[in-house]
Amino acid sequence: AVCAADGEGPIEDRYDACAAELSAIVTRLIKEKQKKKTLIQLLVPDRGEDNVLAGLAAFLKTAHLEHPKLYGQVIQADPDESASSLLDKLKENRTHPEQAEIRYEDGKRLVRNWRHLPAPQSGAVPWKDEGVYLLTGGAGGIGLIFAEEIASRVKNAVLVLTGRAEALDEDRSARLRRLEASGARVLYQPVDVTDRAAVIALVRGIQEEHGTLDGIIHGAGVIADNYILNQTENERKTVMAPKVKGLINLDEAAKDVRLDFFILFSSLAGGMGNPGQAGYAAANAFMDVYAARRNRLVRDNERSGQTLSVNWPLWEEGGMRVDKETERLM
Ligand SMILES: NC(=O)c1ccc[n+]([C@@H]2O[C@H](COP(=O)([O-])OP(=O)(O)OC[C@H]3O[C@@H](n4cnc5c(N)ncnc54)[C@H](OP(=O)(O)O)[C@@H]3O)[C@@H](O)[C@H]2O)c1
Repeated sequence: AVCAADGEGPIEDRYDACAAELSAIVTRLIKEKQKKKTLIQLLVPDRGEDNVLAGLAAFLKTAHLEHPKLYGQVIQADPDESASSLLDKLKENRTHPEQAEIRYEDGKRLVRNWRHLPAPQSGAVPWKDEGVYLLTGGAGGIGLIFAEEIASRVKNAVLVLTGRAEALDEDRSARLRRLEASGARVLYQPVDVTDRAAVIALVRGIQEEHGTLDGIIHGAGVIADNYILNQTENERKTVMAPKVKGLINLDEAAKDVRLDFFILFSSLAGGMGNPGQAGYAAANAFMDVYAARRNRLVRDNERSGQTLSVNWPLWEEGGMRVDKETERLM
């Protein structure tokens, strides 16, 4: 099947169309009750905008966790290669169904894996005195923890927190007041990150009012869990929107801003897949791949500031909760 529609239309639509196509394929295979192992291979260009389709590996990893006989592979290769050479690559990878992410570089076959990194020792923080920071989803569980962290580490920070809600409940408002008392300037602005015009106006407004924008923390997100077999189009689009379209909107609105950093709150589900969260996993993995792409754009002087996508595990004080039994298992 070809699902990228030859690069036409916005990338967020192509990403969703490919997820829908994969969802249909997986659903059909499950309903056929295949007894044999089945491998789904997704060939993705190793460069250009369409490279972000590699994030769909997380969808396939989730399909494998939900149905262990189904295996998925994303293979990144040179789109200018001949069809027969690409076909050889598909065949070559068939013998390693458990390897979910493969990339070819200068003729070498690379398999994505985890690497242990030592914890940084410096204690340095990315925020600075009088820094102006935008936190999408900033009034959510982890967003507020980060707002408090920034305010406690630097002087006179300006923190612009956003969410879709028009106003905050008393508990959150009280936390914002305490932040203000600690010296930070804290503003809550209702902005839906999926609304392109609103995001452009937000970024422009922050620069006009505060003279600058030094960093973005993109924490906006929602969950709508369901197994692939049952997941509705609406559920998939709901979880994808803030992390796919929302991220693109923010990045494009801030493409000429001299940012120090752009931090994305991704999830372990994006790295490993998670049963019941195929759409959410793919949405987070999109951000992981987009982060790498944005860092390449920084090297080409088309963006500034380091992009970091963090695959958080479960936060005890986050707003997204799991039931006690799942928490115990984790
Ligand atoms: N909690 C965890 O353990 C955990 C683990 C891994 C990753 N993460 C990620 O970390 C981020 C924060 O999680 P959390 O636990 O703090 O969740 P949370 O408390 O639900 O906060 C998420 C916030 O995002 C906002 N939001 C949702 N859709 C939006 C949109 N379209 N535009 C603007 N704002 C939007 C929500 O506010 P409104 O409803 O007002 O819009 C909400 O306050 C999420 O992206 C999540 O995927 C969390």
